[in-house]
Amino acid sequence: FEVTWDAAAAEKGGWSSFMAKEVSEEPEAVANTIRGRIHDSAVVIPELDGLDELFAGTERILVIACGTAAYAGQVGKYALEKWARVPVDVELAHEFRYRDPVLSAGTLVVSISQSGETMDTLMAVKYARERGAKTLSICNTQGATIPRESDAVVYTHAGPEVAVASTKAFVAQITALYLLALHIARVRDSISAADQARHVAELEAVPAKIAHILEHEQERTTQLAHWMADTRSVLFLGRHVGFPIALEGALKLKEISYIHAEGFAAGELKHGPIALIEPGQPVFVIVPSPRESSLLHDKVVSNIQEIRARGARVIVIAEAGDAAVLPFADEVLRIPLAGPMFEALLAVVPLHIFAMGLATARGLDVDQPRNLAKSVTVE
Ligand code: G6P
Repeated sequence: FEVTWDAAAAEKGGWSSFMAKEVSEEPEAVANTIRGRIHDSAVVIPELDGLDELFAGTERILVIACGTAAYAGQVGKYALEKWARVPVDVELAHEFRYRDPVLSAGTLVVSISQSGETMDTLMAVKYARERGAKTLSICNTQGATIPRESDAVVYTHAGPEVAVASTKAFVAQITALYLLALHIARVRDSISAADQARHVAELEAVPAKIAHILEHEQERTTQLAHWMADTRSVLFLGRHVGFPIALEGALKLKEISYIHAEGFAAGELKHGPIALIEPGQPVFVIVPSPRESSLLHDKVVSNIQEIRARGARVIVIAEAGDAAVLPFADEVLRIPLAGPMFEALLAVVPLHIFAMGLATARGLDVDQPRNLAKSVTVE
C-alpha cells in the first residue's frame, strides 16, 4: 500500500491550476480587504489613523504601478476623483521616474503592487519620497520592500497569489482604492454621510455578486473560450471604469494565451480602432448599467451597433435585465446589478474566466506563462 502525494496538486486544493483557485477566491479577496475597515456605515481604515491632516491638504494624487496593478489604479482614479474630489493621475512607474516629473508638496503618491517588490515601482516610490512627496502603498504582501519604503500602507488581503497573471489581487486592489477614496472623502467631507453609506453597502455586496458570476457564468464563459481557441485577435471595449477593465481583459489574454489583444475606450473607436473591425473579429464590450446613466449606456450600445454593422462578433458583458443589448450581441455574459463604480469589480470576472479558458483550450500552462515572472525585481 502506497500513498502517492503530489505536493503541488495539494496546494491547489483540487483546482486544475493556481489561477483557477485564485479566481475562485475573488469573493474572499474583496471581503477580506473590506473587513475591519467599516465603522457605522463609513470607511475608517485604521492604518491611516493620524493622517487626516495629510488628506485634508492633498492637492493631487499620483498613482504609480506596473501591469495589472496600474489598471487597478486607473479604475481607482474614477472613485478617488468622484468621491474624494482630488485630481488623480495614474502613471506607469518606469515612465514616471525618467521624465523629471513635477511633485509639489501637496502631492500624495499612491503606489500599488501585489508583491511589493517590483523594482520599477520601488524606485519610483523612492524617487518621489526623496523629492518630498508623501507616499502610501497598497500592497498584498506583508512587510514587503515597497510598504517599508512608504509613509503609510493599506494592505490588500487577497492571500498569497501564485499564478503569474494577477486575478484576485486585482479585485482586492480596486477594493482597497475604493476604500481609500471613501476614507479620504469622509475626512475631506466631500460626500454626504448618506452617499458614503450607500457606497459602503454596495462594496459590501460585491463578494456575493462575484460569487454569483462564478456560479452562473463560469461554464458558459469557459465554453465560449473553447469555441474561440483558434482566434487570432480579440478586442475589448469599455467606457468609464469599463475602460481600464477592457485593458485588463486584453492584458490577461496576452499574458496567458499569447493571443493578440487590445483594449480601447469605446468612445475612441471612431478615432481609429474601428478600422480594425472586419467580419468575424471578436470584440468584448463592457456595457455600463442603464439605470444610473442611460447616456453612457446608450453610447456604448451605439458603439456596439457600429462594430456589428461591420461584421464584428460581439460578446457583451451587461447587467442582468439589460435587454437593449440583445439585438446586437452574439453572446451576452450577465453580471448582477451594481452601481456605476462597482461594475468594474464584476465585469472583470468573466474576463478572467475567459482568458483562463482560452489558454487552457490552447493547451497552455496558465500559471507559468512564457517570458513572464510573478515579481519583476529588475528595472
Ligand atoms: C509582473 C507580473 C504582472 C504584475 C506586475 C506588477 O509583470 O507579471 O502580473 O501585474 O508585475 O506586479 P506587482 O507585484 O507590482 O503588482
